[in-house]
Amino acid sequence: MQCKTVFITGANSGIGKASSMALAKMGARVLMHARDEAKGNSAREEIIKESCNKDIDLFICDLADLEDVKRMTEKIKLKYPQLDVLLNNAGIMTRDRQETVQGFEYQFGVNHLSHFLLTQLLIDMIRKSPSGRIINVSSAAHFVGKIHFDDINLKNSYSNFRAYSQAKLANVLFTNALCHRLQVEGITSNSLHPGVVASRFAHARDPKKSNLFIKWAGNFMLSPEKGAETSVYLASSPEVEDRSGQYYKKMKPVSSSKTSYNLDSVQKLWDLSLEMTGLEKSFI
Ligand SMILES: NC(=O)c1ccc[n+]([C@@H]2O[C@H](COP(=O)([O-])OP(=O)(O)OC[C@H]3O[C@@H](n4cnc5c(N)ncnc54)[C@H](OP(=O)(O)O)[C@@H]3O)[C@@H](O)[C@H]2O)c1
Repeated sequence: MQCKTVFITGANSGIGKASSMALAKMGARVLMHARDEAKGNSAREEIIKESCNKDIDLFICDLADLEDVKRMTEKIKLKYPQLDVLLNNAGIMTRDRQETVQGFEYQFGVNHLSHFLLTQLLIDMIRKSPSGRIINVSSAAHFVGKIHFDDINLKNSYSNFRAYSQAKLANVLFTNALCHRLQVEGITSNSLHPGVVASRFAHARDPKKSNLFIKWAGNFMLSPEKGAETSVYLASSPEVEDRSGQYYKKMKPVSSSKTSYNLDSVQKLWDLSLEMTGLEKSFI
């Protein structure tokens, strides 16, 4: 990964941090994203120390605010000319219904819309790479997901899992849309399920469960390092240089849900995402 520049969202914790560490150890320039500067800096320092790679930068942005996403992309573009890998990793599951700054259902906003906008605004940097890769961290939860086009913000029917599985299905549909649009340019786009990973995410899933229960359940979960393996594989392996539009699990392409291949849904979500992010036109 020498001479490659990678941008990773949610890089201060869990799978994102483990992916940053692994890619830094391979010699990549890693541009980390975090929403909290102190947490981001602490992760960055740890990665520099352990990887002996000093080419690690940090960008701060709250993905629940699309204006903040725009500000961050301007800063990235000012400092760096090219991006080889965009790893859209950040994700959250909130128990109660919340809204983003622009008034969208929080999980759809953070897990999908922010990454849709980020990818749109960084695509020119990815086009400068001889073999750009876009990777979207989804989840097996997408199998039970449905895009509620008639109530996308789930105002009438919220449950945390309905919102999470909708957003994670959006990650796979977005991946397939990117594949159709970018394949002729040699830019690939794949999504993945990282496994069930003992990250902070486990706490967020059900905050009513005690720390002791989480600790016990953690015995059956993957470590963040193991959970990062598929992301790191898709970001770095020559084996997948030409592979696009696939959904990976344990570093192997597997079928995603039937809905995720529905071209009407792919297009409908694309149009809706353009409208919700306020973009006048698509750059992709
Ligand atoms: N863990 C699992 O079992 C599992 C299973 C399937 C899929 N996934 C997916 O894997 C990805 C990584 O999750 P993880 O397990 O590593 O969880 P994690 O440790 O909680 O990391 C999530 C990252 O996303 C960031 N993030 C959340 N909301 C944000 C916001 N509004 N603005 C900016 N950043 C925000 C977090 O920042 P803070 O530190 O500031 O909160 C953190 O850096 C997610 O997309 C998740 O859906 C996880």
